[in-house]
Amino acid sequence: MDNRPIGVFDSGLGGLTAVRELRRVLPAEDIVFFGDTGRVPYGSRSPHIIKEYAKQCMDFLEKQNVKMILVACGTVSSVLGEDIGAERKIPCMGVLEPTVKAAVSATKNQSIGLIATAATVASGSYEKLAAKLLPEVNFTGKACPLFVPLVENGYFASGCEVTRLVAKDYLSAFEGKDIDTLILGCTHYPLLYGLIDSITDYKLNLIDSGKEAALGAKELLEERNMLSGTKKIGDMRFFVTDKVEGFAKLGKEFLGEELKNVTRVEIDEL
Ligand code: DGL
Repeated sequence: MDNRPIGVFDSGLGGLTAVRELRRVLPAEDIVFFGDTGRVPYGSRSPHIIKEYAKQCMDFLEKQNVKMILVACGTVSSVLGEDIGAERKIPCMGVLEPTVKAAVSATKNQSIGLIATAATVASGSYEKLAAKLLPEVNFTGKACPLFVPLVENGYFASGCEVTRLVAKDYLSAFEGKDIDTLILGCTHYPLLYGLIDSITDYKLNLIDSGKEAALGAKELLEERNMLSGTKKIGDMRFFVTDKVEGFAKLGKEFLGEELKNVTRVEIDEL
């Protein structure tokens, strides 16, 4: 039993897709969320910058006395790969493994698509892991760099025409590929779940990387006997590196609960 909070980190709002699922499956857990909103998006940056930012964010969470770190960011998870928890005293996991496992068990025709940030697609991490778990896989990846800024600016409702136009263009990359499963490999993208589902005529298995990451974290804590022993609903604390108001407003819209405890952290102090 371990009553310390779970640390969750992302470049921005996307990590809340993992927090929402954590609240559902592990309601008694306290959560400390770190969103590097002052430097989002990560997905268009080079691997060495992404690694440096990730180190700072994870150091910050470790200082908050968390019991584990869930890297709720497809970009950081893909770029760090197996090095994700290297030299940390607490367990760390990313979205990659649970998400690919879910996709591999969902596909019936071994044809899987991935939408993610440019850095994630360029890393080849999702594709490599999918081919390891399912050697006969046909894998198609498509970078969708406009999705993160659209989501961060609140353009995620399923009726949003601007995002719909952009999404239609990106998703045309899968025409003729006969995929039956599409990985939403950036944790911001599950905020666009309804929109993507309707554009693809509700025909694909959509794999939500935020949700799968949260389920993976639950499994890890269970295996190591590190779940909280309390019965009350867990507290949540949020730290961001840019304005508190915008994050709290959009976060509430998405999580469906008030984000009471949001604090700004200066990037220079990380
Ligand atoms: N949610 C992050 C991911 O999963 C977004 C990355 C970005 O900031 O571009 O990749």
